[in-house]
Amino acid sequence: MQKRNQKLLLAGALGLAGGVAAATWVARSARTQKGASGAGLPTASVLDTLALAVDVLAPTFAKGVIVRRPKVVALAEKLELDRRAIGRMQKLRNKYGSGPLMLPLPIRKQAVVLAPEHVRRILDEAPQPFSPASSEKRAALSHFEPDAALISQGPERADRRRFNEEVLEHTCPVHPMAASFMPLVEEEANSILAAARAAGELDWDTFNAHWTRLGRRVFFGEVAADDQELSDMIIRLRKAANWAFLHPKQTGLRARFLARIQSYLDRAELGSLAAKAAGVATSADTKPNHQVPQWLFAFDAAGMATFRALALLAAHPDQAVQARAELHSKPGTAHAYLPLLRATILESLRLWPTTPAILRQSTHATEWDGGTMPAGTGVLLFTPFFHRDDTRMACADRFTPELWLKDDKVRDAQDRDWPLIPFSSGPAMCPARHLVLMLTSVMLGTLIDDDVNGATLRLVEQGRMNPARLPGTLDNYSLRFTFAPETSGTGIGR
Ligand code: HEM
Repeated sequence: MQKRNQKLLLAGALGLAGGVAAATWVARSARTQKGASGAGLPTASVLDTLALAVDVLAPTFAKGVIVRRPKVVALAEKLELDRRAIGRMQKLRNKYGSGPLMLPLPIRKQAVVLAPEHVRRILDEAPQPFSPASSEKRAALSHFEPDAALISQGPERADRRRFNEEVLEHTCPVHPMAASFMPLVEEEANSILAAARAAGELDWDTFNAHWTRLGRRVFFGEVAADDQELSDMIIRLRKAANWAFLHPKQTGLRARFLARIQSYLDRAELGSLAAKAAGVATSADTKPNHQVPQWLFAFDAAGMATFRALALLAAHPDQAVQARAELHSKPGTAHAYLPLLRATILESLRLWPTTPAILRQSTHATEWDGGTMPAGTGVLLFTPFFHRDDTRMACADRFTPELWLKDDKVRDAQDRDWPLIPFSSGPAMCPARHLVLMLTSVMLGTLIDDDVNGATLRLVEQGRMNPARLPGTLDNYSLRFTFAPETSGTGIGR
């Protein structure tokens, strides 16, 4: 009974935001439906728009797009809200075909992407005609990085994107500064294990404190290792950013935050990305201190992916044995490229994408098989739908690292059929994807390394991870691991 009440309460809370918005659309849509649609493109009925708002948009936004709300994430796992969202998208595709599907909203021209080939087109055709700098994204991210590449346009965007690509070495599977960064990852991993051992278990707060510290060391160097205040500042700004237009800007806090970043960039400590940034050409438009907040912000996502990947290995002992074998077969600097561990992180991101809503906005009218999409249309790519569509992917709900271990050419062909896009794709693809995979895989490898551990990590509440049908949402905040003695026959690697 108590459980039922809890579910009802949550359903009410989560449905509220989407429900209110959707009800407004419903009330006004009869008048505006024709004018808001793309000429010839399918347009969702008012009821289907309402269902999409409640099942897909409301849970995604209630969980927090810029900073997660742990209580909502926990309840989303209990109620399998992400699975429900994918089901809703499947119903829309079955009913309306390949789309893009226009929504009859009075306040905005909005399309939802249903076909894999349309995902590819939209991501490939950035920043024009499909600009990453959508109105909602600008409203949200300008709370802490008003001049970031992601929300810039024209020559400014090009210059800022170039700066990010050069510092983050976006085409290099192994960042040239790997020799500086890998010892930092191993140190923080060892501190995590020591703290967990003292506490008797490993929880999110312990992991995340050291993961965030690692980010500050990689970006700015030892000078920022203990600057928790900087991390607290961006969290406060991100909480406001969750509300986008609806929250006033904290301009004083933002100015202090950006000035602190500038001071670290000026210092350019040797061995940090700040030093690398100091060697990259800049113009008056580049604004490096507005690019770095995106690094701090997105480093969180990398931590979530790593902690969930640890749970994946705990639930898949055979793959954990293989991952450890890979680690031991590539000692020292060879740790910088660990394909199976990287594939494990990518699977964590496929199963539980940290950017579930990729947003674009069209800069001019575009032609589609079904008709014309007008200029200024917001475009939603809901990645869980493509990553976990069980009607198209037999392995949708299972841990399948092989998906990412194929030869690049084979994988490209496969991706064209069915897009797996945790880091997006095309000209606005995450320029840090290789750096992220390097840091996360070494962290994951060190945490499961029994040579370091002397024991294996075992997931408390194994029941949450059914290998035959992994959960639609995995609440990283409540994952906990205990140490199983090496001889116990359970846990990672046993
Ligand atoms: C697991 C971790 C991460 C994931 C899954 C991820 C994913 C993404 C995605 C999906 C986008 C495109 C967003 C959009 O189009 O709206 C993006 C953009 C970006 N990411 Fe990441 N990211 C991660 C971590 C990082 C880190 C750690 C950094 C920096 C050190 C970073 C730097 C950037 C930048 C600068 C952009 C903007 C690119 C542009 O505007 O062209 N990301 N990321």
